[in-house]
Amino acid sequence: MRRKIAAGNWKMNGTAAALTELGALAPHLVQDGPDVVICPPAPLLYRAAEVAKASGIHIGAQDCHMQASGAFTGDISAAMVADTGATFVIVGHSERRDAHEETNGDVRQKVKCAWAAGLTAILCIGESGEDRAANNTLDIIGGQLSGSLPDAMTATNTVIAYEPIWAIGTGLVPSLEQIIEVHDFIRTRLITRFGDDIGNAIPLLYGGSVKPDNAETIFQAENVDGALVGGASLKASDFAPIIAALAAS
Ligand code: PGA
Repeated sequence: MRRKIAAGNWKMNGTAAALTELGALAPHLVQDGPDVVICPPAPLLYRAAEVAKASGIHIGAQDCHMQASGAFTGDISAAMVADTGATFVIVGHSERRDAHEETNGDVRQKVKCAWAAGLTAILCIGESGEDRAANNTLDIIGGQLSGSLPDAMTATNTVIAYEPIWAIGTGLVPSLEQIIEVHDFIRTRLITRFGDDIGNAIPLLYGGSVKPDNAETIFQAENVDGALVGGASLKASDFAPIIAALAAS
């Protein structure tokens, strides 16, 4: 049985007042159910980790630098993330690949830094609307996987999130068949490259406009082990039904 994971990406939303959402979410964790990860903005990481300690909610960062330390004003290293008490870090989100021009090579370095700091990397990959229209989805996904996933992956240090760029924040969601096609493709690629044990153990999350009313359908796919949720993770009242749908899947 693979780990199920419901991860929330708060993006650039929330100040300390938002941490009350962690308390509101805590009663919705299911015993022996999905792992719940909340990725707040960096300034909240330490306080979030302190607040979440007793609840079993895991805390993650939204990014880390691709080097361990140095003269990089404003950046945050993986070790600094780990030092806050966070245990996960999102890397390669399309908003970073786009707005910060992160390449697959950069993302690969970030994953290595995450692992070196003892963090679990949530590696994001996904095609643009143009890629899909041109029938290039699997080529893009395959290229991102081979380009941004280092060889030293283990069964426990990585989670992969498939996030079609055109579905993020748009309310558009791929059909279940389209989700199944990509997730099955990713699973096969992982098994081919890393072998059965590791390839089958890596949780694959779907992300892009996951909401309480579509989560149950998305979680029907055999190779969907959870979700990376943006907008609907900001309020416990929206995120809790997504966790419940995953627990029931
Ligand atoms: P969304 O964002 O759920 O708001 O579409 C998902 C993500 O970017 O991880």
